[in-house]
Amino acid sequence: MEATIEEITKALDSERTPLISVLHAVQAELGYLSTEGLKIVAKKLDIPLSKVYGVATFYTLLDTEEKGENVIRLCESAPCHIKGATNILTELQDKLDIDVGETTDDNKFSLEMTSCLGICAVAPAIMINGTVYGNLTSKKLDSILDRY
Ligand code: FES
Repeated sequence: MEATIEEITKALDSERTPLISVLHAVQAELGYLSTEGLKIVAKKLDIPLSKVYGVATFYTLLDTEEKGENVIRLCESAPCHIKGATNILTELQDKLDIDVGETTDDNKFSLEMTSCLGICAVAPAIMINGTVYGNLTSKKLDSILDRY
């Protein structure tokens, strides 16, 4: 883990790269941001662990706990809420048989809520790993989940 994080911090030229970009890169490589990983990032960038931890826990797209193979993030901001995100949440909970913050028994999906994904024009929206999907309906949700 330490060697991987060292490679990332060196490759991103940490003097000029925002901490959040470093954390995204570490998460992309290691799956999530463990406490040990955050300590290594703080050490490599020579910044306080409290700052690294603060950024890692503030942003909903960063995970400080291990998740399933695919992380579904449902937008809970106002435009998506108005366009039916609550119904999509109920559908996801029923289809996956999990609640927000949980992972399916087969470790295939984790379900999380997030703030605006930047595609409000096609609300309601979800992001699965790095891919966003909008104009969600129950039928569309089935075909999206089948791809994973
Ligand atoms: S409010 Fe949901 S994508 Fe912007």
